[in-house]
Amino acid sequence: MNVTRLTFEQFRNLENGDIFPCDSINVIHGSNAQGKTNLLEAIWLFTGGHSFRGTKDAELPRLIDGKNADSASLSMSLFTEGREQELQLHFKNGRRSSVINGVEKKTGSALVGKFCAVIFSPEHLLLVKEGPARRRAFIDGALCQAKPAYARVLANYNKALLQRNALLKDMVRHPELRDTLDIWDERLVLFGTQVVLERIAFCRQLAPKAVEIYAGIAKEKEAVSFDYAPFDGADDLISVTESFAAALKNAQNTDIRMGFTSVGPHRDDLSIEINGLSARTYGSQGQQRSIVLALKLAEADILFEKTGERPVILLDDVMSELDMSRRDYLLNHLDGRQVFITCCDPETVRLMEKGRGFLIENGRVKN
Ligand SMILES: Nc1ncnc2c1ncn2[C@@H]1O[C@H](COP(=O)(O)OP(=O)(O)OP(=O)(O)O)[C@@H](O)[C@H]1O
Ligand SMILES: [Mg+2]
Repeated sequence: MNVTRLTFEQFRNLENGDIFPCDSINVIHGSNAQGKTNLLEAIWLFTGGHSFRGTKDAELPRLIDGKNADSASLSMSLFTEGREQELQLHFKNGRRSSVINGVEKKTGSALVGKFCAVIFSPEHLLLVKEGPARRRAFIDGALCQAKPAYARVLANYNKALLQRNALLKDMVRHPELRDTLDIWDERLVLFGTQVVLERIAFCRQLAPKAVEIYAGIAKEKEAVSFDYAPFDGADDLISVTESFAAALKNAQNTDIRMGFTSVGPHRDDLSIEINGLSARTYGSQGQQRSIVLALKLAEADILFEKTGERPVILLDDVMSELDMSRRDYLLNHLDGRQVFITCCDPETVRLMEKGRGFLIENGRVKN
């Protein structure tokens, strides 16, 4: 899918008006605080998701004399499913509504599935830099987009986990409750096995794509690997069920003592290595950035395989810390995808073989 026109009205600091992106690389450049990230955020909001910066909807309308205006609107022309489509997103008094091809919808979430995008923003570097929770959240988030039924499986698991943890805490005062622990273990194993199997299948799709993209970014100078294998080689219903049940049983005494569940998919990690070393501990800034990019672009490729439509790629401030050959990959080797890249350096536009540059100054976008 391609965004062919984007219109802003009272949105953040962006001047009211239209921009007309091209269907390949769009570089949005300008000094700090001019509105580059605001522009990517405007596009992202059409996915129906929350702002990737954690901003509340009521804070999106233009600030006038230190107060947010009551409303803001965005509209997008989008080429998808073989035709031009029109989407609108309205923010009024902190609430969203939308219009899809002229049909009014009471919510913004009606847009979910209409417009698909993948965003890289500097905060996403935490995906490599921080602990396993970030990587689990990435896998789970990507899985929920690619396979919406997964959200229910995960919710069932999390509910069973909360209940088991509550029981473990109660057992300090009521040791007789131990008899009921097996019931919760069974539920945890039932849902946890589904979570693990879905994640294994997803990571098996993701890993080779991310490895190939990383090789492109790093010009094959480094070997990267991604591995999600919570129970060693176990990868089918019977072996994962047995392994998880055994691990849970093994940990029962520890769990009772500590008052929480110490094993299961809520503790798993996606291991990422470069040339055999942990990317989190030993990766350079540029390597870590390249890994997150490879994962995000691989996620976009999986969505493309599922839906037949290529998601729009939004890359916020991705160029800093990347050497020339890595920049060249992003600017000239993402064929067939519509990409929006923000950066401060106007020279970036010159490195691009085809595409369009937009200068943004104080919220005004110039072609
Ligand atoms: N609701 C709003 N109304 C008006 N201006 C806003 C609003 N929200 C943010 N801004 C302004 O937008 C500007 C920041 O825009 P943005 O984050 O897009 O900058 P940027 O070009 O991405 O900068 P950097 O290169 O530093 O990342 C700030 O000056 C901020 O005050
Ligand atoms: Mg920015």
